[in-house]
Amino acid sequence: MAKALSEILADDVRAALTAVLGDAARGADPLIRPSDHADFQANGVLPLAKAVKGNPRELATRVAAVLAPDPDAVGDAAPAPVSTSGVVAAVEVAGPGFLNLTLTDAALAAQTAERLGDPRLGVPPTAVGRTTVIDYSQPNIAKEMHVGHLRSTVIGDALVRLLEFDGRTVIRQNHLGDWGTQFGMLIQYLVEHPDARPAEAEHSGEVAISWLTTLYRDARAAFEADAEFAGRARKRVVTLQGGDAESLAAWEEMVAESKRYFEDVYARLDVRLVDADAVGESFYNPYLAEVADDLERRGVAVRSNGALCVFFDDVKGPDGEPVPLIVQKSDGGFGYAATDLAAIRHRVGTLKADQILYVVDSRQALHFRMVFEAARRAGYLPDDVEAVHVQFGSVLGPDGKPFKTRAGKTVRLIELLDGAVDHAVATVEEKNPDLDPAAARAEAKVVGIGAVKYADLSTSRTKDYIFDLDRMVSLQGNTSVYLQYAHARIHSILRKLPAGTTPHVHPRLALEPAERRLALHLDEFGATLATVIEAFEPHRLASYLYTLAQTFSDFYENCPVVKAPTDEARENRAALVQLTGDTLKLGLALLGINAPDQL
Ligand code: ARG
Repeated sequence: MAKALSEILADDVRAALTAVLGDAARGADPLIRPSDHADFQANGVLPLAKAVKGNPRELATRVAAVLAPDPDAVGDAAPAPVSTSGVVAAVEVAGPGFLNLTLTDAALAAQTAERLGDPRLGVPPTAVGRTTVIDYSQPNIAKEMHVGHLRSTVIGDALVRLLEFDGRTVIRQNHLGDWGTQFGMLIQYLVEHPDARPAEAEHSGEVAISWLTTLYRDARAAFEADAEFAGRARKRVVTLQGGDAESLAAWEEMVAESKRYFEDVYARLDVRLVDADAVGESFYNPYLAEVADDLERRGVAVRSNGALCVFFDDVKGPDGEPVPLIVQKSDGGFGYAATDLAAIRHRVGTLKADQILYVVDSRQALHFRMVFEAARRAGYLPDDVEAVHVQFGSVLGPDGKPFKTRAGKTVRLIELLDGAVDHAVATVEEKNPDLDPAAARAEAKVVGIGAVKYADLSTSRTKDYIFDLDRMVSLQGNTSVYLQYAHARIHSILRKLPAGTTPHVHPRLALEPAERRLALHLDEFGATLATVIEAFEPHRLASYLYTLAQTFSDFYENCPVVKAPTDEARENRAALVQLTGDTLKLGLALLGINAPDQL
């Protein structure tokens, strides 16, 4: 089973429209929407009537007769039979020509039953055999990760889970900023100040980033204040590039120390990135000269004032002059763009991607537009390979400005995550005052980290949002905490079922309106995932889950489960409860958020 009832219904209405109008209805969208008056409404008759210059109410009446033929109609009044799925129980023409559609209880029961029995909840994988390369997280060596890296990491991780669920092979690439002229200064400083390192060899990621940050600050200060040091630092870049052992060892040490810190952050965030996914900028060094030559030979790049540039008709600066993508600087050095072009060749040629995603903030939109276009021209990015800049907005502080500490520094990611967990302790204690402190702390980890991720993922990706811990860990509103507690409550309901009651769908049972609404929303899970994956928009899954939790709570108020009127009704309701719990659990897991059975 793949299709939701709304999709089956759309097929039926489309068939009915074609039966009535013939070719004129081909390709028409029946515009199926949830309705307050029935299970669904179809709004597609109106635009179609307009197109064929017909009377919309009359057309709607004829379509209705095809969808649910009146058994008493005979002769001319009887429409030609059209084979439809049989899910429609009743049709009503409303207003100027809408169709109100009610489905059979049996159709709802059948969908629920099929989803309930299946670990994938009835959602088949659609992209088996396809390969995505996803470039995300991308922190920079010897530097703190900032909230931008947090967004990239969290969004990237959710997309990895979603795409894998859809059957794709997903190759994660953590494009670490591990190369560049700043390493000359860092290495030189480290060589000259060996005790800049921590005293103990065994130390935490936090200690690692702390000494690296100090090293960075001191090296920069020396570089700016001391011309002789700056000279030695510049020479160091050359020896590093020449493969000098001492320079390489110092570089490797800084990379390893930084990774220690990144891995700490990844572990706290519970994301899937591992060391093998770290393929930094330095990996592409050996290919840069060759890529530059190749681009020049193909005429994609040209020399301009000594630099090797790619020009675009539609990319101009404020002064009207064309802004090129610089592949090689006039001093011979290769930069960010050359690396990205080499990376595309690798991702298409070696990794065999048919889709490449870059989870990077929106300020780099122009860079990626130019890189993709240059790669297309050079033939590195064939037409059948999709390249997408999955862009995102900024994280803002309470004042609506980019998120910084009071002193104007970047907020340390580890502190921010610790802060979220501390905040969540209060929420957990509010909900369950009897919990002992250690258990409360353990729950707060799940709640607090989930809250940070969910706040990010539930916001439309391209928008900015304010980092507000109080809102993030609130029990009310569209938060992961609300969803995690809804999930835990479901398990407590299931635990309270009388012995011998198991969730079971009874197809002949008449459903209450609140049961119908819940069953119909559950049924939309797969269709929702499809739109999420298509547009790389996790926030659509978040709003689906939020609506699910709300629909469930309405159901639970109206339809007692443990005290249901009959055994059949109880088992049937238990099936809806179970499927809701499973859907919340899987949906949150696809966002990278844990939902324990007990909170
Ligand atoms: N390291 C860069 C930064 O911190 C982001 C890299 C994005 N990925 C890429 N392939 N260019 O801004």
